[in-house]
Amino acid sequence: MAKPTVLTCANHKGGSGKSSLAGSLIIALAEQGYRVLGIDGDMQRNLSTTYGLREFGKEKNLYRAIEDVDELENFNGAEYIVKTDYENVDFIVSHEDMALLETSLMLKMAEREKYVSKLIESISETENYDFVVFDTNPTLGVLNFNIFVASDYVIIPVECSAYGVDGLGAILKFYKNTSRVNKNLKIGGIVMSKVDLRKSIAKDAIEVVKDMFGDVIFDTMISTDTSVEKSQWDEEPLLTHSPDSRAANQYRELTKEVLSVVGKKERIVQK
Ligand SMILES: Nc1ncnc2c1ncn2[C@@H]1O[C@H](COP(=O)(O)OP(=O)(O)OP(=O)(O)O)[C@@H](O)[C@H]1O
Ligand SMILES: [Mg+2]
Repeated sequence: MAKPTVLTCANHKGGSGKSSLAGSLIIALAEQGYRVLGIDGDMQRNLSTTYGLREFGKEKNLYRAIEDVDELENFNGAEYIVKTDYENVDFIVSHEDMALLETSLMLKMAEREKYVSKLIESISETENYDFVVFDTNPTLGVLNFNIFVASDYVIIPVECSAYGVDGLGAILKFYKNTSRVNKNLKIGGIVMSKVDLRKSIAKDAIEVVKDMFGDVIFDTMISTDTSVEKSQWDEEPLLTHSPDSRAANQYRELTKEVLSVVGKKERIVQK
């Protein structure tokens, strides 16, 4: 089986739009006919609940998978996958015990950064996903380090606000540190999120990010749109909940850009 392309939505700044981005990227890729495995790497479980998976994953979840990858001789990553109601979309959900994972990973001695990589390798032996899309927690901790080591591309959503652009240099350093271990890791791009171009600070914020990251900002920006919060409240992905909303269409456009960055051809949209 082929190894999937692993896309990780990351930013240590809380509320920058990681889970919203991951939730929409998954459906937009699935709409194009790709098989997608979403993995919720955040103990807040926001991505899992968006897909109605709040009650799932008591036994099968990312916490168990990472503990078992170390402990079970016949570890089979595919056993931790749950099916969703959405075509082409499967999941590994988060669990509240994920809070324990940071210390648990610290305590494991050998190959401390390779646990998530081993999980993906194990899944690739039996399953055929085109993409894995990770949502991550708002830290620069050991779990995120493991996820970066297992990734091909990091996609960084940045909230278009003063707080959103302040202190972003740290994620760049974190990326550089990780790429010493994972030479294959690339920055897929920066997504400006919650953009309101009528506000003058929006343009300033975009300039600040351009100065810091250069030309890796995606052309497509995600506007402030109440349908994002509404769909999350209703525990449904934005792209099926409000398929014609402004943000949904922007996430689709963004996904086309992501596909061109990762070198996969855009497929005919199946609606
Ligand atoms: N385009 C948008 N328009 C309006 N609200 C948005 C938009 N994108 C995200 N939000 C809202 O902003 C909040 C933060 O977004 P989200 O949960 O995706 O960020 P996050 O980076 O995953 O946060 P955390 O760091 O806590 O995991 C949520 O309440 C979400 O509904
Ligand atoms: Mg989140």
